[in-house]
Amino acid sequence: MHCVRKVTDDLYWIGGNDHRLALFENVHPIPEGVSYNSYLLLDEKTVLFDTADWDVCRQFLENLEYVLDGRPLDYIIVNHMEPDHAASLAEVTLRHPEAVLISTAKAFTMMGQFGFAMENKRETVKEKDTRCFGKHTVTFIMAPMVHWPEVMFTFDTTDGILFSADAFGTFGALDGRLFNDEVDFERDWLVPARRYYTNIVGKYGRQVQAVLKKAGGLDIRMICPLHGPVWRTDLGWFIDKHVKWATCTPEEKGVVIVYGSMYGNTEAAAQKLAALLCEKGMTNVRVYDVSETHVSYLIAEAFRFSHLVLASVTYNLGIFPPMKDFIHDMQALEFKGRTVGLVENGTWAIKSGALMKEELEKMKDMTILDGPVTVTSSVNDASAAGLEALAESLIASMGD
Ligand SMILES: Cc1cc2nc3c(=O)[nH]c(=O)nc-3n(C[C@H](O)[C@H](O)[C@H](O)COP(=O)(O)O)c2cc1C
Ligand SMILES: [Fe+2]
Ligand SMILES: [Fe+2]
Repeated sequence: MHCVRKVTDDLYWIGGNDHRLALFENVHPIPEGVSYNSYLLLDEKTVLFDTADWDVCRQFLENLEYVLDGRPLDYIIVNHMEPDHAASLAEVTLRHPEAVLISTAKAFTMMGQFGFAMENKRETVKEKDTRCFGKHTVTFIMAPMVHWPEVMFTFDTTDGILFSADAFGTFGALDGRLFNDEVDFERDWLVPARRYYTNIVGKYGRQVQAVLKKAGGLDIRMICPLHGPVWRTDLGWFIDKHVKWATCTPEEKGVVIVYGSMYGNTEAAAQKLAALLCEKGMTNVRVYDVSETHVSYLIAEAFRFSHLVLASVTYNLGIFPPMKDFIHDMQALEFKGRTVGLVENGTWAIKSGALMKEELEKMKDMTILDGPVTVTSSVNDASAAGLEALAESLIASMGD
């Protein structure tokens, strides 16, 4: 049975929701599920905007045939070739050999590499090219590395609709709701949206800023991303979030404390520090066990808050391995511009503080507060005083 939603009078959402996939990209947990959005325009010509992941292909094909209602499929615009959107392309083109593919030169190269849709006619487009499908004219905006090199956005100049590929997307199955004003986005979706952006697209902040600048000149009335809700109200609010994420600018004054502890003593230091911060009036504090919390959540929280504390045991003269992974991920995602406090622990040769500092100094615009606070096996009066001093300097560095 088909399951579609009307976006406008002549545009339909024909995608699917996946609650079974445990790990997005086989890396990031998605307990909230995910949607793969595909859109079909019924104009003088019929135009499909991207396809869907293999997981939802059956539903997607039923939706496509239902909305086409016997009409031929004239065009398929491929904004993004990643298989979570293009895996079903081969199935669609087998059913619709008449469909002309419109995409970038790079995307066509990738189609060849993946072996998708080799028989269909192809039209290569570049920046500012336009196509008219009847009432609707679209223009193409190249968006390389948002989030793969072949990506483009398509802008429907008739209705002001931006088909934004992975940009402005989020984890989370739609489950019937399609528009941002049908959900409480700030309450229920902002956390997955931040985790999606920072982990999936986060590395390409510069490219995202470049394309946001280009999009700034357009009269955008609606954003149709490839994952998550369609935006038709409060576009400025969501775009502003992306500007912050793309520039790695904190959204909130607050402290994320991430600890790595084997026997609970570094954990106790982290809890003590959190309590001291709250006692001194800074209550916007979060504490995470680096072994327990998937790194994608830690990355999102690091992007969100102004201050970060890393507390790690020494492990075979090194940083605790899961903490090392977290730091490595921050580096890989070009995380920058934070004030950081450090807590180290060890029992015979304490190294983790100096090693974490060395890694943090490789990131841009990091302010590392005096320290580290050294805990020798367990917190004693001296290290408790160190934690108190760290709490004070974290608060002092926040300004007013
Ligand atoms: C496998 C392993 C390796 C360790 N390597 C070191 C080390 O190289 N240097 C050191 O000072 N302590 C080392 N330790 C001690 C830990 O840092 C110790 O767990 C810590 O001092 C107590 O903190 P915790 O209760 O948070 O785990 C090691 C512990 C384990 C289990
Ligand atoms: Fe993607
Ligand atoms: Fe995607």
